[in-house]
Amino acid sequence: MTRVLVRSEALEKTFGEGELATPVLRGISMDVSAGELVLLMGPSGSGKTTLISILAGLLRPTAGQVELCGTRISEQREADVTRVRRRHLGFVFQSYNLFPALTALDNIAEVLKLKGVPAREAKERASRALADVGLGARLHHRPGELSGGQKQRVAIARALAGDPALVMGDEVTAALDTQTALHVLEILRQQVSSERGILLVTHDRRLEQFADRVIEIEDGRISRIVSGGANAGEAA
Ligand SMILES: Nc1ncnc2c1ncn2[C@@H]1O[C@H](COP(=O)(O)OP(=O)(O)OP(=O)(O)O)[C@@H](O)[C@H]1O
Ligand SMILES: [Mg+2]
Repeated sequence: MTRVLVRSEALEKTFGEGELATPVLRGISMDVSAGELVLLMGPSGSGKTTLISILAGLLRPTAGQVELCGTRISEQREADVTRVRRRHLGFVFQSYNLFPALTALDNIAEVLKLKGVPAREAKERASRALADVGLGARLHHRPGELSGGQKQRVAIARALAGDPALVMGDEVTAALDTQTALHVLEILRQQVSSERGILLVTHDRRLEQFADRVIEIEDGRISRIVSGGANAGEAA
């Protein structure tokens, strides 16, 4: 049985009020299960960042429900949403969001410590997570001493170090050249397992080859859902 990691039902989001009200999401129902990598695609302004932010519990919907790893976060208090997010979700940002003064290792270890992992174990796990993304030789470099692709891999290692069931990312390859972007996606693809799923927002059609499903949104609605290249060769 596949385990649904995140699910939205009839999600709506309107920014502003009265004459300034702008409906951005107009009834989005979707889900991501363990074992799949799903891409969320659509034109600029179609609502992708808004949607993934709501699914991650970073933004509240105007209407509809979100269930994140078994909890209806749309009905929870902020502190409880944060707890669910820390426990189950790893989020990767386009701009990496690394602390410039900290080494790659400490960027990850500090976040693990915030989650309650003891210092020594945090360093060990951080070191393993960096090795997993091919950065075992860059543990003590600071972000300013790393390339864009390496910084993004540190950010991915940080997201994975907490062993989240669900990994989400918004335009994680936007700042990377083609070869580096494909390499980053290969690394993410390897992290999909029977326990883990990944949801990525992207403009980048080249990433479809790594996806099980591609959800396209247009003007706040799902316009179509297609099978991605990771399913090539399987019976439809
Ligand atoms: N905080 C906000 N207040 C008002 N309007 C907003 C806010 N955030 C987003 N919007 C509007 O919502 C719409 C969707 O924005 P969103 O960032 O979700 O698009 P997107 O699909 O991620 O676009 P892009 O591909 O350019 O990143 C846009 O028209 C934007 O102006
Ligand atoms: Mg966006």
